[in-house]
Amino acid sequence: LSKGLIDNHGRKVDYLRLAVTDRCNLRCTYCMPAEGIAYLQEKQLLSWEEMSRLVNVLVGLGITKVRLTGGEPFLRKGIMEFLQEISKHPSLEICITSNGVLLGNYLEELNALGVRSINLSLDSLDPIRFHEITRRDEYEQVMASLHRMLDLNFKVKINAVVMKGKNEQDILALANFAKEYPVSVRFIEEMPFNGEGEKVETLNWLEIKDLLFQGFDHIFEIPMMMGDTAQRYQMEGFKGDVGIIAAHSRTFCGTCNRLRITAKGQVKTCLYDDGVFDLKTYLRSGVSDDELRNILINLNQKRPVDGFEAENNRKNTINESMTTIGG
Ligand code: GTP
Ligand code: 5AD
Ligand code: SF4
Repeated sequence: LSKGLIDNHGRKVDYLRLAVTDRCNLRCTYCMPAEGIAYLQEKQLLSWEEMSRLVNVLVGLGITKVRLTGGEPFLRKGIMEFLQEISKHPSLEICITSNGVLLGNYLEELNALGVRSINLSLDSLDPIRFHEITRRDEYEQVMASLHRMLDLNFKVKINAVVMKGKNEQDILALANFAKEYPVSVRFIEEMPFNGEGEKVETLNWLEIKDLLFQGFDHIFEIPMMMGDTAQRYQMEGFKGDVGIIAAHSRTFCGTCNRLRITAKGQVKTCLYDDGVFDLKTYLRSGVSDDELRNILINLNQKRPVDGFEAENNRKNTINESMTTIGG
């Protein structure tokens, strides 16, 4: 029996983040320039069949959770059939990160497939600021999807990227959403993946924490679990909770349990590396499942200890868009 993927730092890798497309129907300023990026052609993406095969192999290696990301996953045709296919693995928890624009149409079907957990990107509850950040007019659609998810009892996490000088004023309103509804609202440190190579002045998680502690009286720290990205807090009288993801400070690398596959089929053993293996070309060269397993085991023996090491080992400086990585 396989012991699973244990990396060179003794961390168990059991969580796959699979980016299924690089396309998006929003243009969030922290992710992409206004004109968008040059999207990949369909044949440059991993096919659904290739992704299914990878999931099969990785489940055999002990992956217990897969998160579909993108880009916006629901923009790629065939996603529901793919979900149907991978939902045949009884031991695999399937999660999705989505911007919510198209999500509303799929919720019943997702529910029926056993997808229970959805992370929704939403950086402001103010329609005008939503438009400023996303450069699109989809606020009503996204809010409708959010309320539909809550009606259907999905496990919902809201991802709000905090941008210095741009949406700090949204923090308390977003946090208060967790008072009324059983959601986890997570404030994320901005990372430099804006597709423009533009430096960002990140609001540090401690600064975000200060803003929360100024806004609420009774806050209790919830202990972090292995593999968690968010330090969560419980507020008195809240149905949900709030959290902070120190994605740029990288405080949670010690328990990192993630393996990433980008839309074009690059393996990333850290969000901050620039791709460590071209899995697509390897798959298309006609390799066996055993060969695939071996390469995946070997790649996990060369993982950086943290995101700083990964960033230091990069060949190119960071200039990619989050939409090509999958977050
Ligand atoms: P859960 O599975 O619910 O824990 O979600 P998640 O936090 O792993 O994933 P999600 O797609 O909701 O991402 C939330 C934020 O965390 C995004 O900004 C991601 O880029 C960031 N993030 C996710 N995983 C990592 C990671 O391993 N390292 C860093 N630095 N950031 C990450
Ligand atoms: N910094 C931090 N988080 C980001 N996301 C996208 N771009 C960035 C960035 N530059 C987040 C989105 C999405 C998640 C997958 O990644 O909020 O929910
Ligand atoms: Fe893992 Fe890299 Fe994220 Fe740290 S920055 S948690 S090592 S993916």
